[in-house]
Amino acid sequence: MRKPLVVANWKMNLDLKSGPTLARDVADGWSRLDGHAQVDVVVCPPATMLTSVAQAISGTGVAVGAQDAYFEASGAFTGEVSAAMVRDAGATYLIVGHSERRHTIGHLEDDRTINLKLRAAQNAGLLPILCVGETLGERRAEQTLDVLTFQLTAGLVGARLKGTGDLVVAYEPVWAIGTGLNATAEQAQEAHRHLRQELRRLIGPLADDIRILYGGSLKSDNAESLLAQPEVDGGLVGGASLKAESFLGIIRAAIGTRAK
Ligand code: PGA
Repeated sequence: MRKPLVVANWKMNLDLKSGPTLARDVADGWSRLDGHAQVDVVVCPPATMLTSVAQAISGTGVAVGAQDAYFEASGAFTGEVSAAMVRDAGATYLIVGHSERRHTIGHLEDDRTINLKLRAAQNAGLLPILCVGETLGERRAEQTLDVLTFQLTAGLVGARLKGTGDLVVAYEPVWAIGTGLNATAEQAQEAHRHLRQELRRLIGPLADDIRILYGGSLKSDNAESLLAQPEVDGGLVGGASLKAESFLGIIRAAIGTRAK
């Protein structure tokens, strides 16, 4: 049985005072929930806050992740930080291929770059969270499942895939991110089932141990139905992770679905 995982993606928000405070509030609140140990929790602050957030929640059981890292180990790459550097700063997870990096920010990351970042994360001892998802145009053109197959397959070329410690996948439909428009439980389940099948094709029965998270306008009031889907193993949360109470509501929903 897969242990649910709920990940906060703070994106480019908060500061050195509010970030560690929020992380501490999340860790405190989570530790008080009945059955809290049945769910893994991760917070992903901006790079400048990694160390202070990691220190603030050290020993609590809540882990820290980074939102991005460059694939080269070191060198003349102005403005970038490496996977080993974010590991050094206290991260143990790394978000890879987030849709804002694929579609919105500056140079627009392609699948080859994302694959190199995923492998760099593994080499640095980080657990990569590989984000995949279709745009609205792709969904309307009925290309969703093909896009997911391509992004998953391309993202995992040459990756080490031996168990839960090597990979987390996040299904994040681009049209649902930050829009207030979440996928329905049926749409999420269909996409997750497809990703599971594709993982089986790639790595065999071990695919059943890999957690596949849903992300895209996940909130405490829609988390229950989405997280209750059999192939949905937790969530990647943007907007609703910026307040302890709303993020804890999603964690609570994840604990509630544990019996599925
Ligand atoms: P959202 O973001 O919850 O604000 O839609 C999710 C994400 O980008 O991971």
